[in-house]
Amino acid sequence: MDANHSKCLDGERPLGGAVLPMNTLSTSVLEHELSELRLILERQAGVLLDTPAEILSDVLRKYLLSKHQGSVQDMLSLLRSSDAECERLLEPLLDPQTGFFRYPQAFEALATLVLPDLQTRKLAENPHSLRVWSAGCSSGEEAYSIAMSVCDALNCNGGGWNVRIIGSDIRRPALEVAQRGLYPESGLQQVSRQRVQTYFVRVGQHLLVKPRVRNLVTFTPMNLAKPDYLGRFDCIFCMDVLPHFSMSQRVALTQRLHLYLEPGGYLFLGQNEKLPAVDVAFRPHKTGSYTLYQKPMAAAAGQGR
Ligand SMILES: C[S@@+](CC[C@H](N)C(=O)[O-])C[C@H]1O[C@@H](n2cnc3c(N)ncnc32)[C@H](O)[C@@H]1O
Repeated sequence: MDANHSKCLDGERPLGGAVLPMNTLSTSVLEHELSELRLILERQAGVLLDTPAEILSDVLRKYLLSKHQGSVQDMLSLLRSSDAECERLLEPLLDPQTGFFRYPQAFEALATLVLPDLQTRKLAENPHSLRVWSAGCSSGEEAYSIAMSVCDALNCNGGGWNVRIIGSDIRRPALEVAQRGLYPESGLQQVSRQRVQTYFVRVGQHLLVKPRVRNLVTFTPMNLAKPDYLGRFDCIFCMDVLPHFSMSQRVALTQRLHLYLEPGGYLFLGQNEKLPAVDVAFRPHKTGSYTLYQKPMAAAAGQGR
């Protein structure tokens, strides 16, 4: 052990060793290795982990075990060179919290302000197209809430609308849940009876999203620290993702989201989130205690793709 700048987190004994096999028992995680790990994950995935050292060490050791890697240093090199490995390690560490219509005021703003505005502006298009991105969609509840709101407002089956909602997340297991569209009844408390009847079908104690809604939504894995260009969007929902990012990554992502919005498009953040200080223009709209942000129409000419 390098006594100058590192110490074993739990003395000479690895944490949680009682349940791990011998080769892993001998693997102690040093403070400087954890700092290095936090740095790698911030660089690769944007997230600034405030996970306590003991939990992070535990996750790291389980990961070593699953990869049959003996040394923490080998694993850090692997993580440095592989986004996929970072994403796998991050799975148990990221905040998965979500829900249908999680921030009711945001969905109220979508229904009463944003969709009517887009409807008016797109009247001249044929067919009228609407593109929405749920960036950091977790297990899909947010994307399906958007789809239900859009169906309610635009009657998209018969209303001449071409609607595409994309849900993305870095955690693939969450996306598998999203893809299935099957949720326990207890998770639908924020969904009105009317919507449950219209948009879900009962399967035992669970409710399955009907094809009418599912067909509007496509799920895809994506790391928001290195987002792909999926085209321009009329609305982007990026709720409760930025607060988990480091400040520099927050700024970078917000600028990217601005670029990916259509002129006049809307950005939805979580209920109490503040937009980071960025050198791109967003016009705030306050509705009740919720603020959403619009990219000015005039930004059209100045912004690259
Ligand atoms: C607190 S949840 C919010 C889920 C949903 N937006 C909502 O508000 O209900 C944050 C989500 O962001 C995802 N996430 C965190 N870092 C990410 C990254 N670098 N790229 C993509 N998704 C990320 C997490 O996996 C998690 O599903």
